[in-house]
Amino acid sequence: MVLHSPWRADFPALSLFEAQGQTYLDSAATAQKPQALIDALTGYYTSGVANVHRAQHSPAERVTRLYEAARQRVASWLNAASSSQIVFTRGTTEALNLLAYGLEHRLAAGDEIVISALEHHANLLPWQQLALRTQARLVILPLDARGEIELDAAARLIGPRTRILAVSQLSNVLGRWQPVEALLQLARAQGAITVVDGAQASVHGRHDLQALGCDFYAFSAHKLYGPDGVGVLYGRADCLDRLKHWQFGGEMVRRAGFHSADFHVAPMGLEAGTPPIAGVIGLSAALDYLCSLDAQAVRRHEQALLEHLVAGLSVREGVRLLGEPQAALASFVVDDVHHADLAQLLGEQGVAVRGGNHCAMPLMQRLGVPGAIRVSLGLYNDGEDLTRFFAALDQALEILR
Ligand code: ALA
Repeated sequence: MVLHSPWRADFPALSLFEAQGQTYLDSAATAQKPQALIDALTGYYTSGVANVHRAQHSPAERVTRLYEAARQRVASWLNAASSSQIVFTRGTTEALNLLAYGLEHRLAAGDEIVISALEHHANLLPWQQLALRTQARLVILPLDARGEIELDAAARLIGPRTRILAVSQLSNVLGRWQPVEALLQLARAQGAITVVDGAQASVHGRHDLQALGCDFYAFSAHKLYGPDGVGVLYGRADCLDRLKHWQFGGEMVRRAGFHSADFHVAPMGLEAGTPPIAGVIGLSAALDYLCSLDAQAVRRHEQALLEHLVAGLSVREGVRLLGEPQAALASFVVDDVHHADLAQLLGEQGVAVRGGNHCAMPLMQRLGVPGAIRVSLGLYNDGEDLTRFFAALDQALEILR
């Protein structure tokens, strides 16, 4: 199948993989990096590093300017009203943990935190543990057969005790967009705090947060062709102001004494210690790269690849797709074949896919499977990658059956 990616050459690792006979189909776990990002990081390190917000010397002033320009870059990408609504974290997981601690004082026994059955552990465990700490109740929204949160059930389950709604915009297992706008409306009508996990979604668009209207939004840089170790928590200004500080240390404090201290407001008050400076600058470069591309062309390319992937899986005997995927990834199981054996044989043939529970064990239980194989696509993948995947899959299944 001819599905050429015009952006493949922007990613040096792809030609290395080709030379090594490797096919990378695990971009939902982490994406390969464009030369533009590598150049930005090299430029940052070779121009002389310094810490941010701490010193008066000129390297520190230059790096602080770059760091704050990156905050502005992220704010405009998310269509946030102000860069002070952008808190840099070490990733989505840290952003969601920050929230679960920062909101604790607003919960009481018997309050409800609503999530869905498809949540990644990062958007489940912080809320589960918060519920245990406060005697709140964790309410789980069910899914339909396509892998979409059921709105009828949500209308019944989101009620006057709902204090927090936290849902993923796009499932990292099912690849299906969730009806987040409608869920936010239900939660807002009850005066609940709304949190959207954009880890899987943000690279595929729908990140205009004023249009979305959530109180908080979290994502990681590494899934959108940026560096690992850095992520973002966006918050509406009045919502950020009401979060309790959760990590304490340098730079987040305004005045410290031995027995008491006053802290900065967000974003600085939520960025204790030396932040991931290179990562933040790299995230900005990754956004510059993404925004330089024709977003519609990228969507069309990824969509064509996904359709080809789904069609190829659907015609193979004994292969069962999980849900109805819509965006750049599909997960499947095979009758009488364990996913770990299959992932192993695919790996041995140079095909990188993820096999396992995808950090969503409760979802696997709901689906009645121990795990699944996930094929996930980046904008650099092409039809040849899928041809190699299907050839490897057929060979592996022949051996395993
Ligand atoms: N959250 C990442 C995944 O889905 C690691 O693979």
